[in-house]
Amino acid sequence: MHANRRPRFAVIGTGNMAATMMNTFKRVGINVAAIVSRDAARAREFASAFHVTTAGEDIEAVLKSEEFDAVYVANDGARHASTTIAALELGKAVLCEKPLAHSADEAERVADVARRTGNVCMEGIWIRFLPAYRRFIELARTKACGHPSHLYADFGYPVGENMLPRFLSPRTGGVLLDRGIYLLALALDVFGPVGSVEAALEINSEGVDRDAYLQLSHLGGEQSQLAISFTSLMSNTATLACAEGLIRLEEPLIGGETISTRRAAIARDPAQLLGLRQKFARSLRERAVLRRLKRRMSNSGREYLSYGVDPYVPQLRHFLGLLGAGSRESDIVPLELSLRIQRIIDQARVSAGDARKRLE
Ligand SMILES: NC(=O)c1ccc[n+]([C@@H]2O[C@H](COP(=O)([O-])OP(=O)(O)OC[C@H]3O[C@@H](n4cnc5c(N)ncnc54)[C@H](OP(=O)(O)O)[C@@H]3O)[C@@H](O)[C@H]2O)c1
Repeated sequence: MHANRRPRFAVIGTGNMAATMMNTFKRVGINVAAIVSRDAARAREFASAFHVTTAGEDIEAVLKSEEFDAVYVANDGARHASTTIAALELGKAVLCEKPLAHSADEAERVADVARRTGNVCMEGIWIRFLPAYRRFIELARTKACGHPSHLYADFGYPVGENMLPRFLSPRTGGVLLDRGIYLLALALDVFGPVGSVEAALEINSEGVDRDAYLQLSHLGGEQSQLAISFTSLMSNTATLACAEGLIRLEEPLIGGETISTRRAAIARDPAQLLGLRQKFARSLRERAVLRRLKRRMSNSGREYLSYGVDPYVPQLRHFLGLLGAGSRESDIVPLELSLRIQRIIDQARVSAGDARKRLE
């Protein structure tokens, strides 16, 4: 990258996410210099809407210019790995939307090229940069509620019938690749590497998963239960069960800003069970007003941690920091994380095997 100037980006893709990130680029003071789409007319239309001067359909033709330092890849998931590899080979740093790849093999190929060329390559697992998510991980790691043993997390918002085919197509890759990645990153953050995976998947005739239920056994003996859906409204929370209480990342888990903790009432002395405190607890349980008061008071363990105006800004600032410092890899979303996630998804597909419930 040229010293003393802001990095110049090209955006690859013209969909909803590319449009969202155009605003994020503006917020951090980056002028996107080119738009690439497989459809030249769409590239021109998108570029004109965002006042970008260069638009094209050929990645190599656009990116061979020294003018560009970095690329944001936001076309559809099936093309992420090949697009990222092409950009890395042309000497550009890449911020790639999730999923970085559609399989562990594909992710390995991307990682090999990134390491060989020495260009930064980071998957856009933006939730890892948000203050509430980071606080959740900190509370887990510092054992704020005692030793953590189980993680329960779900991510499900129903997609309208007319939109479902778009989500359930091989170009998107299904719910594990589209949404599961976030929960897998969370489970790996909390408990580390996974030893075994059991999964139940609901798939369509093209083998694309619509709903997924995963049970991960981590190498340290902890368990993660994850549910992900395109068709149901789930609680969209993450609860970490610990020896002395629980820690929760409140709804919406993805992009959330609220953490709550609750300490367990642990009887440490058998005499306590018969004592005054116990009598008081019993009389409290018998009075509706006091039960309601207790419930209100139990909210006191809440923390609100805002990400500001745009949840994608922290990730983009981090990426710009990597470019400015000449780093080869992100310490917050390293390639090894992307590889681990893809390996778990591969394992889940194998585990589901015959148990996969076909939808038609
Ligand atoms: N980080 C997040 O919070 C977040 C949120 C949503 C999505 N994403 C990710 O971002 C990526 C893109 O998602 P998206 O929501 O932007 O998907 P999308 O709107 O379907 O766009 C994906 C690609 O489809 C092509 N396309 C767009 N409009 C089209 C049209 N009218 N006809 C035909 N093709 C068209 C475009 O590629 P070409 O221009 O090359 O044709 C576009 O880049 C996905 O990998 C997704 O997982 C991330």
